[in-house]
Amino acid sequence: MSPNPFDGKAEWFDRHYEDVRGRVRFRVLREQLKEALPPPPAAILDAGGGPGRFSAALSTDGYAVTLLDPSEEMLARAERALSGHRDARVVKGKAKEAPSIFGPEAFDAVLLHAVVCYAEDLDAVLGGVAQALKRGGVLSLVFKNRHALPFRHVIRGSLAEAARSLEDPREAGNLGIANRARTREELEPALSRAGFEVRGVRGVRLFAEFLAAEPEEEEEVERLVDLELRAGAIEPYRSVARLCHLVCERDRKIV
Ligand SMILES: C[S@@+](CC[C@H](N)C(=O)[O-])C[C@H]1O[C@@H](n2cnc3c(N)ncnc32)[C@H](O)[C@@H]1O
Repeated sequence: MSPNPFDGKAEWFDRHYEDVRGRVRFRVLREQLKEALPPPPAAILDAGGGPGRFSAALSTDGYAVTLLDPSEEMLARAERALSGHRDARVVKGKAKEAPSIFGPEAFDAVLLHAVVCYAEDLDAVLGGVAQALKRGGVLSLVFKNRHALPFRHVIRGSLAEAARSLEDPREAGNLGIANRARTREELEPALSRAGFEVRGVRGVRLFAEFLAAEPEEEEEVERLVDLELRAGAIEPYRSVARLCHLVCERDRKIV
């Protein structure tokens, strides 16, 4: 079996939750999830849940949480993050394997955050999480927004990369792992094939990319989170945020 590209990167990824971009991403998504998720104690699958930051927070809120991830190193971190939590478990596997591991219609909601950009088999991943969801269940899908790619290259001083990213959505990113950004319009047909209807669209993290300096005061971070939340709900900001957050519902129709 080929080595998991996330082994060796887990600590780096987990640490990003401490810097301002990670803190803003977490806070903004937490607020958006409060609107999107059914109330606790609903059963949530955190597919590709990595180090367990969202799982731990949702477990604290009273949800029954299952974190699924293929990386041993991420799973070890998730075990630590969830130790002492009631009704929380960590399972090894890929998102597309969810129905075979847990059975069909096992969850009320699925988080799929920052995972599809690494998955080659998009239809298998979305089809897998759809089958693991109850009808009418919620998918929270967060992915790297293709429209935002050139901005970061420009900020980092590479106009050549910015120009390349207009044509080519593949990158190595901060983690050095090959990934692919998509537009919302590119993802929608695959969501539809898997039986999802898009109910909500939000942008996540725009201004945090452009800060001249990291804010020092907590109050300033709060102001930034508030700004990001408001801008992420309206155009044109929503469409050029670094991440796109789609809230989808698994079709209630019997197919
Ligand atoms: C960038 S991390 C995101 C972790 C977490 N969702 C978060 O937002 O903090 C991506 C995670 O997806 C996992 N992953 C990659 N391919 C996957 C797949 N096909 N199915 C499930 N998880 C996958 C990786 O092991 C890694 O933990």
